[in-house]
Amino acid sequence: AKDDRKFSVLIAGGGSTYTPGIVLTLLNGLDKFPLRKLKFYDNDGERQKKIADATAILIKERAPEIEFEATTDPKEAFTDVDFVMAQIRVGKYAMRSLDEKIPLKHGVVGQETTGPGGIAYGLRSIPGVIELVDYMEKYSPNAWMLNYSNPAAIVAEATRRLRPNSKIINICDMPIDIMDRMAAIVGLKDRNDLVFRYYGLNHFGWWTEITDKQGNDLMPQLKEYVSKNGYWVGGDYDKGTEASWESTFKKAADVYKLDPTTLPNTYLKYYMYPSWVVKHSDPNYTRTDEVEAHRQKLVFGECKRIVDNGTAKDTDFKPDEHSTYIVDLCTAIAYNTHQRMLAIIPNEGAISNIDPTATVEVPCLFGSNGPERLSMGKAATYQKGMITEQNSVEKLAVDAWVEHSYTKLWQAFSLCKIVPDAGIAKDILDEMIVANKDFWPELK
Ligand code: NAD
Ligand code: LMR
Repeated sequence: AKDDRKFSVLIAGGGSTYTPGIVLTLLNGLDKFPLRKLKFYDNDGERQKKIADATAILIKERAPEIEFEATTDPKEAFTDVDFVMAQIRVGKYAMRSLDEKIPLKHGVVGQETTGPGGIAYGLRSIPGVIELVDYMEKYSPNAWMLNYSNPAAIVAEATRRLRPNSKIINICDMPIDIMDRMAAIVGLKDRNDLVFRYYGLNHFGWWTEITDKQGNDLMPQLKEYVSKNGYWVGGDYDKGTEASWESTFKKAADVYKLDPTTLPNTYLKYYMYPSWVVKHSDPNYTRTDEVEAHRQKLVFGECKRIVDNGTAKDTDFKPDEHSTYIVDLCTAIAYNTHQRMLAIIPNEGAISNIDPTATVEVPCLFGSNGPERLSMGKAATYQKGMITEQNSVEKLAVDAWVEHSYTKLWQAFSLCKIVPDAGIAKDILDEMIVANKDFWPELK
């Protein structure tokens, strides 16, 4: 029979800087993933409205048959929805800035998803994402949620534990971005031309095999390139890449050297070279300041331009790896394609010598029943040690939130590879408790 379904999609975190990219990708891909309805939900109506007003113009010009609505009302937002694309930032950039700056003041890496900053953000995100899951289950129990909200590792561990049967799939665009770079390095069109094996935790993983569609091994060529240039492609490819990302992609050369049998995720630089990272950080101007000056300014500036001109015909908003990945995932679930893609899911044997209850990032086949994990075999000794330690940090962070436990949170901070000792961990923690008083449970 002819499949004439059309889908209803909700973007939760409609005010996110990533929303216009997703809208563009959806509008460009209506032949593969047809929409009947697009909704935005955010708890900051004013921020969301700036993106929504521009989106309304885009839709009117390109696909007026799609019903569009932006709301701050959970019932209105989550009713009659097939897919939720979640990308919230609880505490927004103001809190992210503190996540970065408080540790740096103590000589420790200050980063969105890594170390004390990542744990602090985790304790804010857990209730925010759980709330979205509960709204979805209440108003659209058959829907799927694809969640980008960070820190994905801690959020995924929390949803594994607190909402084990919910239809949330936690995802990350970092390996996707890197695989697009790998494709460019070997002269292929994009990541979909690569077949890969990858394992680890979120922001903490390694590729063990990469071939082309014909099965030719691409690892030797990639390793040769990465050992010199990291994942930096340069030229037109990297026009517009921000300074901090240039440094991160280049630093992957040094991260690679620690284990020349695999290719690393870029985020491992924070764990392997923390003193280098701190030395190259400015405690008064961190990634948040760069995002506010660059991405946020560009996105909100372009929305305003569209609204002021009353047209989006000449907009430079375009699809990117972040937006195409989430739309590809929805398409794979909607049409049961069993496409092979990464997700952050309960291990349950995917990495055979790692705790089955760890939340790991591995390739899965995506179909109408969700992700089916592929077996990646054993982690090598080096990776096993790293993963076991970091996963314990993530579990302790969730324990601390559930049990309101100061001690568990202190343990999480001090076990973290990038924190030199328990005293410094405590100093950072005590400062973060004050900074996060509107978001964290009161710790005992
Ligand atoms: P942003 O601050 O621009 O947007 C986030 C939006 O979420 C804001 O409009 C905010 O008002 C809203 N929000 C906050 N708390 C909310 C809540 N409880 N309910 C509803 N809405 C809420 O952030 P951004 O930089 O665009 O990033 C969005 C999210 O995506 C972040 O969590 C970021 O870390 C994440 N991200 C993930 C990946 C990945 O690969 N997993 C990649 C990039 C960004
Ligand atoms: C962002 O704000 O862009 C992050 O989600 C990742 C990064 O670039 O720091």
